[in-house]
Amino acid sequence: MSTNTVKKIACIGAGYVGGPSMAVIALQCPNIEVVVLDINEERIKAWNSDKLPIYEPGLEEVVFAARGRNLFFSTDTTKHLGEADVIFVSVNTPTKMSGIGAGRAADLTYWEGAARMIAAVSKSSKIVVEKSTVPVKTAEAIAKVLTRNCVDPNVKFEILSNPEFLAEGTAISDLTKPDRVLIGGQETPTGRAALEKLKWVYAHWVPDNRILMTNLWSAELAKLTANAMLAQRISSVNAISALCEATGADVSQVSYAIGMDSRIGPKFLQASVGFGGSCFQKDILNLCYVCESVGLKEVSDYWYTVVAMNDYQKQRFVERVISGMFNTVAGKRIAIFGFAFKKDTGDTRETPAIDVCRGLLADGAKCAVYDPQVAPIQMFRDLSAPKYAWDRPHGWTKSENHIMESVQAVSDPYSCAAGSHAICVLTEWDEFKGLDYAKMYDSMVKPAFVFDGRNILDHDALRKIGFVVYALGKPLDPFLVRG
Ligand code: NAD
Ligand code: UGA
Repeated sequence: MSTNTVKKIACIGAGYVGGPSMAVIALQCPNIEVVVLDINEERIKAWNSDKLPIYEPGLEEVVFAARGRNLFFSTDTTKHLGEADVIFVSVNTPTKMSGIGAGRAADLTYWEGAARMIAAVSKSSKIVVEKSTVPVKTAEAIAKVLTRNCVDPNVKFEILSNPEFLAEGTAISDLTKPDRVLIGGQETPTGRAALEKLKWVYAHWVPDNRILMTNLWSAELAKLTANAMLAQRISSVNAISALCEATGADVSQVSYAIGMDSRIGPKFLQASVGFGGSCFQKDILNLCYVCESVGLKEVSDYWYTVVAMNDYQKQRFVERVISGMFNTVAGKRIAIFGFAFKKDTGDTRETPAIDVCRGLLADGAKCAVYDPQVAPIQMFRDLSAPKYAWDRPHGWTKSENHIMESVQAVSDPYSCAAGSHAICVLTEWDEFKGLDYAKMYDSMVKPAFVFDGRNILDHDALRKIGFVVYALGKPLDPFLVRG
């Protein structure tokens, strides 16, 4: 038997990363017992039920195939952490809300809590794997917490960084066929042995040339940099979308033309109302903070512009809607198509829909929101929550009265559009492309507007129906120019 054998894996954090990534490991490695742990009992209950806590294409098939065989979801941290030889930590690492570095630095409270939990129950040596996205050098701090809190001097901890690159909506295919798996470890004999052990797990299904091994700090920093560069592409093309509108160029044509340059490539050049999701903004802010902390203000300022451009894009969209509708949306019903931060997920963390709806509500609009995967309660929570409050285990539960009065969650797109002055497309759900817009037009207040923040609809067909159309980064409708 190989010395690399891993018998039991535990993962702290049963969220968007912990759940799917461990389910795929369990499916691919039937001889390893995999237990996913969380302090949130509701979440664990849902993972053990027929209705999983997150929506992700292909996830049910993977979970249902492995659950009860070698995949388990539990709140019994003492037992499973104690027994595991490899422990992944996949807890949330939100932006700090207060104190030093508020609004930029990563809040490592949950990470440190997890490390203390591991130290308290460990009676045998463990490999502890950073799966969460963390600031570079976190492994150093975690090693100190682990070794200083473990009472048994014979227990040794080896820390690895194994950042996750999955994107929501495609998590299962990203995990099953990753571009690369990155594992960082200490450049010592025990560090190298730990690297080999984790590599052995992934080698069950990932080709050897796609498993990269680096030092700890490179792996931590590569994750932050990957997200920063992906977001930078979107902000770059979004900046150009504003210029397109001012000049009559078409951003889709510009993106297509530049993406054909093999040095640039076509991905992540889709102009949008702004990027959302739990990580891009958080990780860039975190990168900026790390740069500042080591005295690299210019580098920090450089990356911060990616976030600033994203805020500008969301605000620009709100201003287009208001100016297009004769500079007032007060009392007007506006249909919001899509609340999730992208299609094929029910996740709303940092979704651009929050800022767009808030901008419209601030000007007195009434928003009717339809999203095929987002529960109404989630929309109300998101619209009421203070910045960065959402990424905490028990989140924000209070909804403010004026939000309840001015926002309506609607269960189908036709009733959402009925009586509205405008439709704003904020998520690129495929189902929005196939709707009967002529039917909607008949039920709307005239002039009826469509503001397509994702450029997914057939704009010429909409214009033929009678809609005034704003398509992001495309030549402006003369009606809007005059408005
Ligand atoms: P999440 O909020 O969905 O899940 C985190 C879970 O950790 C929560 O269920 C929370 O209850 C649990 N938790 C927190 N402290 C705990 C503790 N001490 N013990 C047990 N459970 C605890 O977060 P997520 O989206 O899965 O992200 C996790 C990490 O992975 C973050 O660092 C994120 O930046 C990174 N990441 C996320 C994605 C993504 O697509 N969401 C992709 C790559 C990396
Ligand atoms: C992103 C990265 O793609 C993952 O590699 C990474 O693991 C993850 O962040 C993370 O660390 O959390 P995710 O946020 O799930 O994944 O989704 P993306 O597909 O990257 O989309 C992010 C946002 O950018 C969405 O709002 C999307 O609509 C927007 N986007 C994406 C654009 O506006 N234009 C594009 O061309 C691509």
